[in-house]
Amino acid sequence: MRIASSIATLAAARLVASQALNDSSSSDALWGATSPPYYPSPWVDETTEGWETAIRKAKEFVGQLTLLEKVNLTTGVGWEGGPCVGNVGEIPRLAFPALCLQDSPTGIRFADYNSAFTSGGTAAASWDRKVWYQRGYGMGEEAKGKGIDVLLGPVVGPLGRSPAGGRNWEGFSPDPYLSGIAVAESVKGIQDAGVIACTKHYILNEQEHFRQGPESVGFGFNITDSISSNVDDRTLHELYLWPFADAVRAGTGSIMCSYNRINNTYGCENSQLLNGILKGELGFQGFVVSDWGAQHSGVFSAFAGLDMTMPGDTTFSTGNAFWGPNLTLALTNGTIPEWRIDDMATRIMAAYYLVGRDKNYVETNFNSWTTDTYGYANAIGDKNYGLVNKHVDVRGEHGKQIRDAGARSNVLLKNNGVLPLTGKEKWTAVFGSDAGDPMYGPNGCSDRGCTNGTLAVGWGSGTSNFPYLVSPLTAIQNEVLSNGGIIQYVTDDYAYDQIAALASQASHSLVFVNSDSGEGYISFDGNIGDRNNLTVWHDGETLIQNVTAVCNNVIVVIHSVGPVELDAFVDNENVTAIIWAGLPGQESGNSLADVLYGRVTPGGKLPFTFGKSREDYGTDLLYVPNNGEESPQDDFNEGPFIDYRSFDKNGIEPIYEFGFGLSYTNFSYSNLKITKHPNVPAYTPNNATNGFAPSLNSTPFSEDLADYQFPDDIERVPLFIYPYLNSTSANVSYGDSQASEAYAAADKSTYIPEGSQDGTAEWKSRHPAGGAPGGNPRLYDVLFTVTATVTNTGGVVGDEVAQLYVALGGPDDPLYQLRGFDRLYDIQPGQSVTFGADLTRRDLSSWNTNAGDWEITEYEKKVYVGKSSRKFELDGTLDL
Ligand SMILES: *[C@@H]1O[C@H](CO)[C@@H](O)[C@H](O)[C@H]1NC(C)=O
Ligand SMILES: *[C@@H]1O[C@H](CO)[C@@H](O)[C@H](O)[C@H]1NC(C)=O
Ligand SMILES: *[C@@H]1O[C@H](CO)[C@@H](O)[C@H](O)[C@H]1NC(C)=O
Ligand SMILES: *[C@@H]1O[C@H](CO)[C@@H](O)[C@H](O)[C@H]1NC(C)=O
Ligand SMILES: *[C@@H]1O[C@H](CO)[C@@H](O)[C@H](O)[C@H]1NC(C)=O
Ligand SMILES: *[C@@H]1O[C@H](CO)[C@@H](O)[C@H](O)[C@H]1NC(C)=O
Ligand SMILES: *[C@@H]1O[C@H](CO)[C@@H](O)[C@H](O)[C@H]1NC(C)=O
Ligand SMILES: *[C@@H]1O[C@H](CO)[C@@H](O)[C@H](O)[C@H]1NC(C)=O
Ligand SMILES: *[C@@H]1O[C@H](CO)[C@@H](O)[C@H](O)[C@H]1NC(C)=O
Ligand SMILES: *[C@@H]1O[C@H](CO)[C@@H](O)[C@H](O)[C@H]1NC(C)=O
Repeated sequence: MRIASSIATLAAARLVASQALNDSSSSDALWGATSPPYYPSPWVDETTEGWETAIRKAKEFVGQLTLLEKVNLTTGVGWEGGPCVGNVGEIPRLAFPALCLQDSPTGIRFADYNSAFTSGGTAAASWDRKVWYQRGYGMGEEAKGKGIDVLLGPVVGPLGRSPAGGRNWEGFSPDPYLSGIAVAESVKGIQDAGVIACTKHYILNEQEHFRQGPESVGFGFNITDSISSNVDDRTLHELYLWPFADAVRAGTGSIMCSYNRINNTYGCENSQLLNGILKGELGFQGFVVSDWGAQHSGVFSAFAGLDMTMPGDTTFSTGNAFWGPNLTLALTNGTIPEWRIDDMATRIMAAYYLVGRDKNYVETNFNSWTTDTYGYANAIGDKNYGLVNKHVDVRGEHGKQIRDAGARSNVLLKNNGVLPLTGKEKWTAVFGSDAGDPMYGPNGCSDRGCTNGTLAVGWGSGTSNFPYLVSPLTAIQNEVLSNGGIIQYVTDDYAYDQIAALASQASHSLVFVNSDSGEGYISFDGNIGDRNNLTVWHDGETLIQNVTAVCNNVIVVIHSVGPVELDAFVDNENVTAIIWAGLPGQESGNSLADVLYGRVTPGGKLPFTFGKSREDYGTDLLYVPNNGEESPQDDFNEGPFIDYRSFDKNGIEPIYEFGFGLSYTNFSYSNLKITKHPNVPAYTPNNATNGFAPSLNSTPFSEDLADYQFPDDIERVPLFIYPYLNSTSANVSYGDSQASEAYAAADKSTYIPEGSQDGTAEWKSRHPAGGAPGGNPRLYDVLFTVTATVTNTGGVVGDEVAQLYVALGGPDDPLYQLRGFDRLYDIQPGQSVTFGADLTRRDLSSWNTNAGDWEITEYEKKVYVGKSSRKFELDGTLDL
């Protein structure tokens, strides 16, 4: 109960607020919701466009494997069992090395000589497909160079339902369309570099509190099971699933299922979501891997569609596994049909071939558990000492790209003309700990689990080690000194006397403030992953006030994981400019200086809304369990109305709306044209059928447990997960005495769901919205192209992100939804360029729950083109 009391008091107040919100929005229809069963688990489909060769090669490979070898491919060897955060067993007979899975969505975690990339939520602000692709490609190249097979990113879950969600910054944006394009470009980038992308966390993993039962107990909450995110089908499809569909369509080789429950079934054993929606409706051909410790059953999760378990042990470092020997048993005793493990292995190998891992192989040359050159290859059992870190420098030219991505992602929120600076300012003063170097270096806290000095990434497994971190103070000082100017600073946030003294001398003050969050296994300053508040940290408001009181030219720079409350200073006449710089990564200061000093004209736009207060968002997190010791119930009663959709619906004025961002120049819009595409085929619900589960003609496996015993010559690593049995008795092999009793008493009906063993069932025709990766291919037909002219009416060259929104017109539809954008580069003063966006059938459709399909409703559909979600310059009506 160490933190509980203060948190609980704080949280109680919030609970009242969030309950009030929930009560006003609708009934308790979602409380205790359940997921319908969906069996059997869909098997790969060799006719899937883009996957044909990969699946064919995978089947050939898997066809040669023995049962034990297949088990090895699907089961992690245990936490710290190998060099990576996740490792499966190898197949020595075929010289097939153990696959390596490694964090993170911002680079490589637990390594050296790697880059620390711009975070997803910050890169999203560039609204720049090239930035996203290059960022993915760069991360993929680094992963390849270190010998990683699967890079654990990108992230679109959390999507960002509530702004205080701890891991929102790892993902892109609470807007599904923006996130969808960002994730697709990221997947393509990573996989074009020859590494498998793992899009995560599937799905509704929208907060850190209660994501895992035992973790919550560690924080003093007495609950046994994870939180359940309860959501209706329409909201799932139109909001949270949308970007996952884009990731599948882009070919993501793997998907990670999440810690939380959805409708009260765990993410990694939810047959409706894994079998029905991901593999069925979305036609996903790759493999589903569990989040680390998110598997809660053996046989049941196998039937529900899980294909690989990580890190392999039931709980970290126990040596017990739901799969491994248990999977061997479940096959030999006839519970799991062979086609299901063949499908698991085929999916893993299909992803492998899809991205060309067979041609791109590099031996894993780093070790997550030590920075030393020599150490144990199997840290879990202190075994196999030798060379473990070759310290391969994989950074290439990525530093330049990161600097560029950071600069393009800066969002200029306010500017009364003070920016850009010239570098020849009379007296530049810099304030705030966020401007300076972290006291213990950029990697001073494990997994960046603290905030000290400038904030360039959040905390948790979504981080990578910094090779260096250019602070804003360093970059600004370099700039000023190269111009022969004066620069002084106070980086103690609370040294008010010194702050006032310096600020009153300065001609230009730059004040840096921040707000941090991260993953839920780390609590920092009482924030259990999620933020407790949306205010800036370290009394940043007082700091700003102290500077503005005596200096009339104050530029505020915000490094934050998401929106912060700005009310205290946004309208202060002495605040002459505000920049949201997000979490820029290793080149932080340089990226910022490029914008401050005008080498890059700011063109970023907000990927979320800055509201006046947290209440204005209409959604909030659950900070106290609300269901006794049972799974907390998180009802997504707001439906699709999050972020700007909520502000629009409730008529709430934000401070800076979604899509907003200023430039050093101005743009005008004219000449809207809507072109209807002729001869587009009508929408036809998918009715394709598939055949029986394929038989790979592998050698039939034995049912004699004597054939699965540990080989005599193996040198066993303690706590390591092998596929072998340690006894010819099934009970003994299964595990401890308690478990053996359960094994003996196992009632088939409870863990073998109806239909789960059936390899003859047609599943493809069950999904009208299915038929290809990403869903029914007719959904992606282009129905309209909208164009407009964008003219630079200002005095300097600049980029404009033109945006297209649609109003679908129905009573349950959001007022406006983003459905097109383009970052138009380097528009010269006076120059006009054409903005164009295609509208697909999916873009104009709503999810019809009864039909289980998309439909274009009868309501009038309008389009709006403009500078942000609230600054529409042109509009028109679609002739459907
Ligand atoms: C969750 O439950 C809601 C309410 O019953 C239902 O509309 C929805 O389809 C369910 N979704 C899943 C994935 O189980
Ligand atoms: C399974 O993987 C382990 C660890 O990599 C290896 O020692 C063992 O030989 C493998 N077993 C088979 C049957 O390939
Ligand atoms: C948790 O709840 C159970 C059941 O009410 C109770 O027995 C146990 O003492 C509680 N544990 C803590 C740490 O409060
Ligand atoms: C088999 O799975 C059960 C849980 O279902 C677990 O308790 C047991 O330890 C596992 N056996 C092995 C050998 O890992
Ligand atoms: C078969 O093996 C699995 C995995 O150990 C076990 O869960 C199940 O109870 C066994 N079933 C039978 C009928 O022996
Ligand atoms: C950073 O760490 C130093 C040394 O412990 C401490 O004095 C300082 O207050 C910290 N800064 C912040 C912003 O937490
Ligand atoms: C908000 O959270 C930060 C970080 O824990 C804390 O320093 C600050 O005091 C909090 N602000 C308010 C107003 O409670
Ligand atoms: C600076 O902050 C301190 C601490 O809150 C406050 O007492 C003081 O009045 C502030 N000074 C100004 C000029 O706002
Ligand atoms: C703005 O700064 C000037 C000093 O240049 C000061 O006199 C004035 O009170 C400040 N205004 C505010 C609102 O703090
Ligand atoms: C599937 O739908 C198409 C187009 O609607 C139709 O032509 C075809 O007959 C249908 N096939 C089956 C097996 O129902």
